[in-house]
Amino acid sequence: SAAEKGGYDYFMLKEIAEQPKAVADTLLGRIDASGSLALDEVRISAGELREVDKVVIVACGTAFHAGMIAKYAIEHWTRIPCEVELASEFRYRDPILDARSLVIAISQSGETMDTLMALRHAREQGSKVLAICNTNGSTIPRESDAVLYTHAGPEVAVASTKAFLTQLVACYLVALYLGQVRGTKWGDEISAVIRDLSHISGEVDRVLETMEPVRALARSLAGKRTVLFLGRHVGYPVALEGALKLKELAYMHAEGFAAGELKHGPIALIEDDMPVVVVVPSPRGRSVLHDKIVSNIQEIRARGARTIVIAEEGDEAVVPYADHLIRIPATPTLLQPLVATVPLQVFACELATARGNDVDQPRNLAKSVTVE
Ligand code: AGP
Repeated sequence: SAAEKGGYDYFMLKEIAEQPKAVADTLLGRIDASGSLALDEVRISAGELREVDKVVIVACGTAFHAGMIAKYAIEHWTRIPCEVELASEFRYRDPILDARSLVIAISQSGETMDTLMALRHAREQGSKVLAICNTNGSTIPRESDAVLYTHAGPEVAVASTKAFLTQLVACYLVALYLGQVRGTKWGDEISAVIRDLSHISGEVDRVLETMEPVRALARSLAGKRTVLFLGRHVGYPVALEGALKLKELAYMHAEGFAAGELKHGPIALIEDDMPVVVVVPSPRGRSVLHDKIVSNIQEIRARGARTIVIAEEGDEAVVPYADHLIRIPATPTLLQPLVATVPLQVFACELATARGNDVDQPRNLAKSVTVE
């Protein structure tokens, strides 16, 4: 009913709008007064966490994209090798696991069969499994050694939005906690990022307030056949997520690529006036990547692409090559997906609506996939 949707036309719109609160709720009570992480609920002892020599993340769909981003964070802050794998592929390739492997299963519903089978396989090999899950008491957390709940609240729309942002928050918390417990040379950076995380909900809110031009752009592209998405580093999984949202909601051909792969094939796809969304890394931090992606934008534009550029406020280098410019607040490099994903959700939702689709119930899809 309209009341359940809180005055919005679709649950998806309501859930997009709830993201600042969902992010704040997922952080609540997990950062102590001294600015350290307190994750007592993760019932794997500090001793056991210090023994971990490999992290393996398993998940499907949007949760898998959260896992891809987590890999960058975990390897950077902890120096523990981290693999991320589609849950549906995992157990069929005889993965190398033992008691020192920490397996992280990410799932909004907690009922995804592929993810459940992957975690069962991991436990059979003696690995510890930590679930990141949004649904209290669901099967995946019940069968795991420990759980870190995301506090997104119920997600009704089939397309995951607020659950994804809270999965990212939970992944950052786990990565930072592992770094904190094990002690790394990034101690100061970890403290700074914990501080930045505690303000990030306000930044997500600021992004939401500036979405009207994104909606207008989306409507103007409703007649297109293809949209491509490019990103690098943590922007690459964000590009994949933008493409997935468009596939499932707008039923359009959409693909995400790592921008560095363009010249290895995908650039052949570029046609005159084809929309290409580019997620630009911060010009601060890993500025080499920023410069490379600016070259990519020039390259695709020279071949006729209509460039839709998502770039940090104050990034002037992209301005001459952006046919459409979407600004996001400056964040630490690894946290950028929390703000960069939001315009892509709004874009897909509005484009799908303009095409006459029901964004809450896209064709052929179920909210949770309980068969393999
Ligand atoms: C996301 O928009 C999708 N509907 C889908 O990819 C989903 O993320 C995937 O099926 C995993 O679901 P889960 O998080 O409940 O395990």
